[in-house]
Amino acid sequence: MKILVVGSGGREHALCWAIAASPLVDRLWCAPGNAGIAANAECVGIAAGDVDGLAGFAREQAIDLVVIGPEAPLAAGLADRLAALGIRAFGPSADAAMLEASKGFMKDLCARHRVPTAAYGRFSEPEAAKAHIAAAGAPIVVKADGLAAGKGVIICDTASEATRAVDDMLTEGTFGAAGREIVIEEFLEGEELSFFALVDGEHALPLASAQDHKRVGDGDTGPNTGGMGAYSPAPACTDEIAGAVMDTIIHPTVRAMKAEGRPYRGILYAGLILTADGPKLLEFNVRFGDPECQVLMPRLVSDIVPALVAACDGELGNFDLRWRDEAALTVVMATQGYPGPVDAGSVIGGLDEAAETEGVTIFHAATARSETGEFVSSGGRVLGVTAVAATVAEAQQRAYGAIDRIDWPDGFCRRDIGWRAVRQGGQSD
Ligand code: AMP
Ligand code: GLY
Repeated sequence: MKILVVGSGGREHALCWAIAASPLVDRLWCAPGNAGIAANAECVGIAAGDVDGLAGFAREQAIDLVVIGPEAPLAAGLADRLAALGIRAFGPSADAAMLEASKGFMKDLCARHRVPTAAYGRFSEPEAAKAHIAAAGAPIVVKADGLAAGKGVIICDTASEATRAVDDMLTEGTFGAAGREIVIEEFLEGEELSFFALVDGEHALPLASAQDHKRVGDGDTGPNTGGMGAYSPAPACTDEIAGAVMDTIIHPTVRAMKAEGRPYRGILYAGLILTADGPKLLEFNVRFGDPECQVLMPRLVSDIVPALVAACDGELGNFDLRWRDEAALTVVMATQGYPGPVDAGSVIGGLDEAAETEGVTIFHAATARSETGEFVSSGGRVLGVTAVAATVAEAQQRAYGAIDRIDWPDGFCRRDIGWRAVRQGGQSD
């Protein structure tokens, strides 16, 4: 098969790494990829948001399968465009990607189909939003409706903070078009859990459990980020909880999307809170998590390519995936300043030595080659140092052992990725 992966982050490096290992693959491209991805795929200089360019390339090269990594090209209709050309695309149509692209759409769908989620209201007028806040009280959560690169969620401890968030979004236009409409929802308390399922329009197959760390600082403190690390399995995801999530959230959503004429195909990623009343949905994402993908791929024993094809072709009904018992853990190395603005171009040394650490694979999230051939940083999150070992605790030791061999003064990482799983001492899946 000829396969094209769309995207340029650590998630796409992990996908390319797994796909390249499949005996079914003749040629693998990544658009646009990065300097690390170039070890596993041929990088082509087409941006992930260039729907015309990607569709044209896929047709010229007679690509058999396009795997779309990030949400933006999905929301922009890349899967629809490829389908119209008769090219198999892994990832939802634009209509189905609304589950992530509009929080209001997602909440209304959940309400219509009784999927457990936080109580909410949708607003586009500041006065109505403020009246709702005054009536509901704090803590309360204000969310931009559209795609805001993980930044459009404001947790407000007081009503005045919430009122300010409403002004920022609806009056000041801080999030542009994404914040022209907002969702205000009940604050839910409990441990967070991510849940991933492979979906073919009708059937859903849960993946191994994985959890990320969203805050930038040790002890889960500081601003939210795209994710500073991840581990798999996640002890919080017991069989009982996984069953409840499939029964009350994933299957009802897949049925609802089919019934409403937007069949969902691809990865359905549910962000959950485990409340005293059971798991409740915070958000849906229409793609693999990043860096959760970087811990799932190394644990996958089965060939990923037939699974992606089965999801595209509606054939997951009798499909099974096998996972390693070993744990995996990824530590993200980011440029100083992330999640704020960062400088690019600092030289990263020691990657070859680090990659020799037992059980370690380094996924690149944002690297380029300098004129003299060295790896240099080219973004906020730059590397995902990933280790596989018998337990999360051992994987953590291996990952940090590798990181200590990387020479990158302009980079930083959290030193406690996996702490919850290590403290609980337990596996799950
Ligand atoms: P989201 O992008 O919707 O997942 O929100 C980002 C983060 O905000 C989540 O990972 C949670 O930590 C937090 N969050 C979002 N919605 C709520 C809520 N209703 N209650 C409590 N925390 C929330
Ligand atoms: N790691 C969180 C995300 O991919 O959205």
